Parts: sequence; structure tokens; C-alpha cells
Amino acid sequence: MREGLAALLRLPRTLQPGATAALCAELEARRPAEDWNTAFGADSLFDAWTSCELTRGLYEANRSVLREHLAPRQAWRVLELGGGDGRLWQGWSIPGELEVVDPAQAVHDRLAGQLPRSLSLRSRVRRAEELDEFQADAVVCSLTLHHVAGRSFRERASHGLTGPGKQEVLERLRRGLVERDGLLVLNEANVFCELELAPGDPVLIDNLLDSYLRRCGRALLAELDAGGDPRLEAILHLWCLEQVGRGQLPLAERDVYELDVPRWERLLQRSGFRVESRVCTDRWGLFFQYVCRPA
Ligand SMILES: C[S@@+](CC[C@H](N)C(=O)[O-])C[C@H]1O[C@@H](n2cnc3c(N)ncnc32)[C@H](O)[C@@H]1O
Repeated sequence: MREGLAALLRLPRTLQPGATAALCAELEARRPAEDWNTAFGADSLFDAWTSCELTRGLYEANRSVLREHLAPRQAWRVLELGGGDGRLWQGWSIPGELEVVDPAQAVHDRLAGQLPRSLSLRSRVRRAEELDEFQADAVVCSLTLHHVAGRSFRERASHGLTGPGKQEVLERLRRGLVERDGLLVLNEANVFCELELAPGDPVLIDNLLDSYLRRCGRALLAELDAGGDPRLEAILHLWCLEQVGRGQLPLAERDVYELDVPRWERLLQRSGFRVESRVCTDRWGLFFQYVCRPA
């Protein structure tokens, strides 16, 4: 599969969509058992993902910003949307309270057994869109807001979807940060695949290819070639290659609704945030960290 993917990446861009579908079909019989984002046990693919070079810089950058912001504060409280495997908090030693909002019970079970003792954990099994009013010194929203389709309630409605979009979630986060002069730390990939790009639109497919194969795929291939975790191969299959196929699915099933950097920044501003810093946390130009305060 590594050779197949490397060969695909050498093709002209216009030939890559067909080659991706052909490679997925060829690999179908050898499909790994674990679905992405569904298991957080000791052998989870997610563990391999959060310890690879591509993502390590993201957690280091977040830890550094949070340490500087929280260390001088007494009895601080952080809200995290989308907990994953808790990698961000590995080795964290400054005592405080962490509330995690995530719809997956497995995430909360994993965090309860794994977080350092310095953190007292409150778990909320719910989606970011269902957030109650809160007050916090910081909100971390890392690789999670892209699961909320649409930049706003209005954009969702124009595609037949109900409920809040990204802006309404961000506005609620802003309200929860004002009182304590809090920070929002947002991490997202730089790729545009929002609702306005219809299923099968060649621009959407090329954007997905650019993000999942030309940047993420190349990064993981390079890491594997350098002797990296062999589970990255399953991630390349399930996450990188198969994710491109999601561009053909009906809008509500796409699962990932990302924005590029200028669009994330516009959305943050419209939602009442001032972006204090924006950095890319990897050498592939994929993931960006936005550190924001209520304007
Ligand atoms: C790609 S993982 C990122 C995890 C972690 N924040 C990180 O950076 O490693 C996405 C996480 O968001 C959670 N998630 C998915 N949809 C969500 C939603 N609508 N609201 C809150 N969390 C969600 C998933 O269960 C998963 O834990």
C-alpha cells in the first residue's frame, strides 16, 4: 500500500482522484478492523496518530500557550471540546480543573483512567453544539470544530440542516471566556471543504486530496520510511485514502467541514474573537494553531 500511495502521489493532480478510488478498491480486502476515532484503548490507532511527528508539534504548542496562561492563575478551569486520547495533558503538572465535552463515552472512559493527578476531571457526554453556559480561563478546541457542519445556523439551514453551526458554538465559547479574561486555543487543518462545496465537486475532491494525501499522506509516508510506528499504515488507509471518498457522500455524512486559514480567521472575527497569534505547528503546512481572546 505504501508503494501504491507513493506512486499515486507522483501522478498529475487530475489523475489522482481516479487513482485514489482504484487503490481503495484494491486494498478493501485488507481493510484494518478499527474505524477512525472510535476506539481509544491501549492499541488504538489514535495513540499512533497523536504521537506521530505531524501532530506532536500541535500538542507541544498548545501545552506551551496554556502553561504560560494558566500557571500564574489560582484555581483555574479549562474547557476542552473533543477530548481524543488526552495526549495534550500528558505530563501536565499544574493543578487545576478540566471539563471535557465530547459525545463519545469511550473518550471519557479513557480520560478518567489516564489524566495526570494534577487535573480534576469533569466529563460531559455531549456535543459542542449542546454546550451549557460556563465560565473558564481557557477553552481548547483542537481538531474538533470541523465536525460541526456549516459556518453558521443560516448556512446550515440553506442546506436543509437544523441546529447551530460553528459561529454559534464560537459565540457561546466567547461568552464563557469574557469574565475570566480567558483564551481560546483552536487547532484546525488548513483546507476548505465546507457545505458550499457540493458532493463530488472537483474542487472539493482536490482540496481533500491536498490535505489528506499530498500533505498528511506524505508526512505519514515519510515517517513510516524513517522507521515510524507501523500503525501509521492503517491510518494512511482508513483516514487518508478513504477520507477522500467522503467527498462523494451526501452533505450530512461528510463528517469533516474544514476551512482554510483566511476563512477560519474571518469566522473567528465574526464570532467576536481577536486572533492574537496564528502558527503552523508542523512542517507540512497542515495544522494551524489560533490563539484568540474575546474582542
Ligand atoms: C480528531 S479528534 C481530536 C481530539 C483531541 N482534541 C486532539 O486534538 O487530539 C476529534 C474529537 O472530537 C470529538 N467530537 C466529534 N464530534 C464532536 C462534537 N460535535 N462536539 C464535541 N466533540 C466532538 C471526537 O469524539 C474526538 O474525541
